[in-house]
Amino acid sequence: QRVVILAGGLSHERDVSLRSGRRVAESLRGAGLDVTVLDVDASLLSTLAAERPEVVWPLLHGASGEDGSVRDVIELLGLDYVGTGPRASRGAWNKAIAKNVVLAAGIDTPDYVTLPQSLFRELGAQPVLDAVVGRLGLPLVVKPNQGGSALGVTLVTRAEDLPRAMVDCFSYGDLALIEKAVQGVEVAVSVVDGTDGPRALPAVEIETDGPYDYDARYNPGRTSYFTPARLTSAVAARVAQTAVDAHVALGLRGLSRSDLIVDSEGVPHFLEVNVAPGMTETSLFPQAAQAAGLDLGDLYRQIVSQSVG
Ligand code: DAL
Ligand code: MG
Repeated sequence: QRVVILAGGLSHERDVSLRSGRRVAESLRGAGLDVTVLDVDASLLSTLAAERPEVVWPLLHGASGEDGSVRDVIELLGLDYVGTGPRASRGAWNKAIAKNVVLAAGIDTPDYVTLPQSLFRELGAQPVLDAVVGRLGLPLVVKPNQGGSALGVTLVTRAEDLPRAMVDCFSYGDLALIEKAVQGVEVAVSVVDGTDGPRALPAVEIETDGPYDYDARYNPGRTSYFTPARLTSAVAARVAQTAVDAHVALGLRGLSRSDLIVDSEGVPHFLEVNVAPGMTETSLFPQAAQAAGLDLGDLYRQIVSQSVG
């Protein structure tokens, strides 16, 4: 099968995407597929129209990759592609929308507010932030409502650190999502569609001595991973079911990865979902697959073949 992997692009996660693209390409080639990695630029439409690969794998992280716009282009060309369609991608990429959808499906997610930057200009930053702390308390997590790889994300324990966190956040987009920080174990659960429906791979538990930020994600050795996560079997089953339920509720296809916090009672709280989870050497999806005893080449080839037709 001739596969074109779309990587790079212009998002803040360009480098991560190029690394993901290279890794998946290597695995697929090892499994006997003919693979090209295309660094996405303005010629995307004409290049894909000329190449007409059997399958496109949009491995772009961040805006345009996960917000559905590049998937719109692929659909316009009538090509088969790996993963979620444009509409559901847009919903999943918007953290507030994703939280509302999973909440309606009975999944816990931390209380939050969204804050447009324009509100600061209209009302002044301090009164707005005071109201947020009044409503949600502390600690809080500030993040861009649309973003990835923890860029622009800050855990805020003291109210006086909020303004600085907001400035960081707004450098990635003009809508902030501020949520109550839930204490617990951070886990990531990858989901893959199979012939008998979606199934969860073993949860990966993340342990860092600081925040699980961009550096901790992509510099080997900065983070400890435990796969499967150190959870009781009952909690592990609940965590797996939560990720599958989120995948279904959000209309996701092919593969996804939900990021969750498991509190001290064993309750999973949904933070966000990724329609193009990272596939780099330190990323969570490939770690989960390997812990499940799966060969990455076989798994990626299966993901590709079920996207055809
Ligand atoms: N946004 C990065 C690529 C991830 O979630 O793995
Ligand atoms: Mg993400």
